[in-house]
Amino acid sequence: MINPEDESLKGPEIGGPRVMRAGCVSAEGIAAERSPTTRYEIVNSDIIDWFNRNPSKNFHLSFVDPPFNQGKEYKYAEDNMPQAEYWRWIEQVLKEIFKHTHKGGAIYFMQREKNAEFVLSTLRKTGWTFQNLIIWKKKTSAVPVSTRYGKHFQVIAYAIKGEKPRVFNRLRISPPLPPEYKHGRESGIFVTDVWDDIRELTSGYFAGDEAIREKDGQRFHKQQSPVALLLRIILTSTKVGDVVFDPFAGTGTTMVVAKQLKRNSIGVDIDPGNAKLIHQRLKKSRKSDDVLKHFHYYRYTEDIASIGGLNGMADDIPSRPGARKDKSNLRDTN
Ligand SMILES: C[S@@+](CC[C@H](N)C(=O)[O-])C[C@H]1O[C@@H](n2cnc3c(N)ncnc32)[C@H](O)[C@@H]1O
Repeated sequence: MINPEDESLKGPEIGGPRVMRAGCVSAEGIAAERSPTTRYEIVNSDIIDWFNRNPSKNFHLSFVDPPFNQGKEYKYAEDNMPQAEYWRWIEQVLKEIFKHTHKGGAIYFMQREKNAEFVLSTLRKTGWTFQNLIIWKKKTSAVPVSTRYGKHFQVIAYAIKGEKPRVFNRLRISPPLPPEYKHGRESGIFVTDVWDDIRELTSGYFAGDEAIREKDGQRFHKQQSPVALLLRIILTSTKVGDVVFDPFAGTGTTMVVAKQLKRNSIGVDIDPGNAKLIHQRLKKSRKSDDVLKHFHYYRYTEDIASIGGLNGMADDIPSRPGARKDKSNLRDTN
């Protein structure tokens, strides 16, 4: 388990100006690290303040998973704003991301289904070209509603800057064959705009090993996104060496996946506890964060090894579903 209070896990402090390793100079609230091929920056800051201080940063892909303004408890953020004020704030964030995105770069904006209308209009207003409204169908039971249908999905709007995406790797997956099918699919199927094959981490025991937990078993962050979700997004919309941005980084799932796929990343979160946790999560790989175990599912995708930054490591792609080749540097930490 990653323990945010564990002194032995502490890396460079987040929160004060200091010089990091060769080649990485940190500014206030930034921890930066360069692995042999990629660089990441974890920033503890309000997102708008960060944009104001960093006019020259640019990204190829952004994953935007903000507080949904539904009265959830965040230590450092207001999740109960008047609706108009909330959407003005989101508009400001999307506009800034647009300004800082390379031509053809992508944004994936996650929201509650009831906000779909605002999601689409705010993306349009801020310059983005709409591509898909992805339905992320949950695996746990629907949220019951007495006078309407129960809620069973979240939306992820996918949009780009300009008319053409600079990268769109069409992934092929290999979902289990429905019982009524007689013959297996020889080359899998392309991913569509309905994602019903990625388990959310937000519900009880279903959250499994991947959810980061406190000592008492409670989840560290109730909104932790699954590795499989970011794996799909980053594989589809980036190349090795690109810059992936997460303005509401939370537990850092985006950065954890980006790093394994040899993409650079920048993650911003207003909560210093989250920034510290991300730092630890990136420093000490956990078995449950390992992306390799998901690659078997994408085995029918042409060039999956090179898309995934696994050149020369194709043999590491597991031959069985969910399996992974043994990696002694990965620990089963929770
Ligand atoms: C829905 S969570 C993101 C969870 C993340 N996708 C993950 O995998 O853990 C939203 C995050 O936004 C952060 N946040 C809220 N307001 C913010 C702001 N003004 N600037 C930066 N981060 C903010 C919160 O601290 C929270 O961690």
